[in-house]
Amino acid sequence: MITVEDVACHDTRDMEYTEMRRPVTMEKLVSLCKRRGYIFQSSEIYGGINSCWDYGPLGVELKRNVKEAWWKAMTRDHDDIDGLDASILMHPAVWRASGHVDGFTDEMVDCKKCKERFKLEDLDATSCPKCGGELTEPRNFNLMFKTHMGAVEDDASLCYLRPETAQGIYVNFLNVLMTSRRKLPFGIAQIGKAFRNEITPGNFIFRTREFEQMEMQYFVKPDSADEHLERWREERMQWYRTIGIHPERMRFHEHGEDELAHYAARAYDIQYEFPFGWQELEGIHNRTDFDLSHHTASSGKSMTYFDDTSGERYTPYIVETSAGVDRTLLTALVDAYDEEEDRVVLRLSPRLAPVTVGIFPLVKRDGMPEIARRVRDGLRGRYKVFYDEGGSIGRRYRRQDEAGTPYGVTVDSQTLKDETVTLRDRDSMKQERVKIDELEDVIEKCVRDWSAGGS
Ligand code: GAP
Repeated sequence: MITVEDVACHDTRDMEYTEMRRPVTMEKLVSLCKRRGYIFQSSEIYGGINSCWDYGPLGVELKRNVKEAWWKAMTRDHDDIDGLDASILMHPAVWRASGHVDGFTDEMVDCKKCKERFKLEDLDATSCPKCGGELTEPRNFNLMFKTHMGAVEDDASLCYLRPETAQGIYVNFLNVLMTSRRKLPFGIAQIGKAFRNEITPGNFIFRTREFEQMEMQYFVKPDSADEHLERWREERMQWYRTIGIHPERMRFHEHGEDELAHYAARAYDIQYEFPFGWQELEGIHNRTDFDLSHHTASSGKSMTYFDDTSGERYTPYIVETSAGVDRTLLTALVDAYDEEEDRVVLRLSPRLAPVTVGIFPLVKRDGMPEIARRVRDGLRGRYKVFYDEGGSIGRRYRRQDEAGTPYGVTVDSQTLKDETVTLRDRDSMKQERVKIDELEDVIEKCVRDWSAGGS
């Protein structure tokens, strides 16, 4: 019998790890996501629509947990950061001032023979990489989706679906500054949808045309911006560790002059090693006073700040941390995917896992389902639980291993004698007997230790 004090929780992230052993491929992951109800192709019954995906019962829970972990880390754990939820449709002048109307473009070329379209920056050769055909001259392509507001579709009603959530924060800078009575430095955090008419979407949910961002804009004194940039990039890297991502599969990439976005003076990417190579997971940028100065000039509203400690008035610089919800979720899935001889297992952190505890009566008789439902009702206030009484216990465990459920509780004949159940650990498959009335605390300790091991 074990108690809360001596339960040993298993953190497999300390297991010996070699890159050669990684079994994950995008094909296997896409298939698991469909099989287990994580992610479906959008409009599948009509043949699907390119680059659009729907989150199923487990996917939506994982997504909520990713956003909740970020929101907590950014707002609740920081006294100097407020939240915001700005609208997707904004005044079109916002996108002229921000530089997106003129500058948010990719150069694209088409193959004259097979008609395939490419982003110029992705090409090494001057002919089509697919068929060797001749390519058209490069053309600029603006990535913003256009729409019209109101009944008349003319230039006056033109507006855009936002390509980043950041601008909603900048145009509310004065509102938040005044209502929250803030002093610099302080930040504003927001989670929301963004849209980009990407020329080459792909790699499942890695690059899509509709996605969600988790962005935080930190307003600082101009001469301190690089110092804050360094602090935030470390803090953001640490956050990925706390949600269980292997540190050795992440790295920083500092942007060279030719890579910087039109608004950035310095920038780092946090990159992750996906099955298709090292790619950006999050961007951390020193945006200088680019955005606030342009909105001041364009709107006529001064976005300067009076610093009463130094007696100076200046336009704040902005240090931005910009992460993708979908890309973080993909990273968590890729990172967690593992195969053993007779099972596929998603080793998701219990903080992120869509279901925390699976509850199983060993058989559907002798009062076991009744006890198991009682256990379920006791745990559901604290955890997302899943009750399953159908099929062999081995198959029920395997299903939950693939779904990423970290703990399984089984009610068996011993339970009828002494009110204990088995608690099964997904990663090690070890089982321990625990008293029902200590179960909640034992699980809490397991969840806590797993998280602490990753930080
Ligand atoms: N406000 C700054 C900004 O938007 P970005 O580097 O263009 O910067 C930030 O995007 C993050 O948003 C990326 O690191 C990625 O996680 C996510 N993201 C950007 N474009 C995306 C797309 N087409 N599909 C999915 N996620 C995307």
